[in-house]
Amino acid sequence: MNIHYLTLFPEMYDGVLNQSILKRAKEKGIVNYHTVNFRDYAENKHNQVDDYPYGGGAGMVLKPEPVYNAMDEINTRNARVLLMCPSGRPFDQKFAEELSKEETIVFINGHYEGYDERIRNLATDEVSIGDYVLTGGELASMTMTDAIVRLIPGVIEEESHMDDSFSTGLLEYPHYTRPREYRGMKVPDVLLSGNHKLIEEWRQEQSLKKTKERRPDLLENFDKNNKK
Ligand SMILES: C[S@@+](CC[C@H](N)C(=O)[O-])C[C@H]1O[C@@H](n2cnc3c(N)ncnc32)[C@H](O)[C@@H]1O
Repeated sequence: MNIHYLTLFPEMYDGVLNQSILKRAKEKGIVNYHTVNFRDYAENKHNQVDDYPYGGGAGMVLKPEPVYNAMDEINTRNARVLLMCPSGRPFDQKFAEELSKEETIVFINGHYEGYDERIRNLATDEVSIGDYVLTGGELASMTMTDAIVRLIPGVIEEESHMDDSFSTGLLEYPHYTRPREYRGMKVPDVLLSGNHKLIEEWRQEQSLKKTKERRPDLLENFDKNNKK
């Protein structure tokens, strides 16, 4: 997979993309990350990428030319072009699964008050990572990258994300490791029983219980999907 980031702050990606699983995915040749500073594509003397909004009002607006020019330099054939934007489609695990199958993803990261509306025409999708406003799209695209890349086959063992929260439609069951007892807190007996069927049943029960308590909204969809 090739992932391109159109950004005014390419250095922000250095830390995140060069650590842990995202770094290993790159070293294994499964994914390539490319940052493009679209300031380099501005069409004026001072490389200005923003301007005052027509009609007045607070804040500056990203100009279309630098973003369009930068996009012209990238091979976007068949790419998913994701415009980071609080009013976009909410990002979730299903969406991450869908995107993990793409060959090329381009993230367009806004800044300032927002985009010139014409920039939206470049996007295949507008995406939000939650109902809050960040100063720029960089952290949103890094969060999405992390969620997407770990789902690409070969990046981590498939078993380790199959039971993840949301993958099954439920929240994940509790985990325990050694010691068996710590400060009076004991590991549930069933996990020490060696009986895989009972352990499986207990985990399913715990997943349902946790989802019911914390995210009853998920349970509604889970019930619907499991009735089919
Ligand atoms: C300060 S925000 C602009 C918010 C805009 N005025 C609005 O109300 O929708 C600047 C940029 O940060 C990014 N951003 C902010 N919040 C985001 C979110 N929840 N999800 C994805 N991107 C976000 C977008 O790229 C956005 O253009």
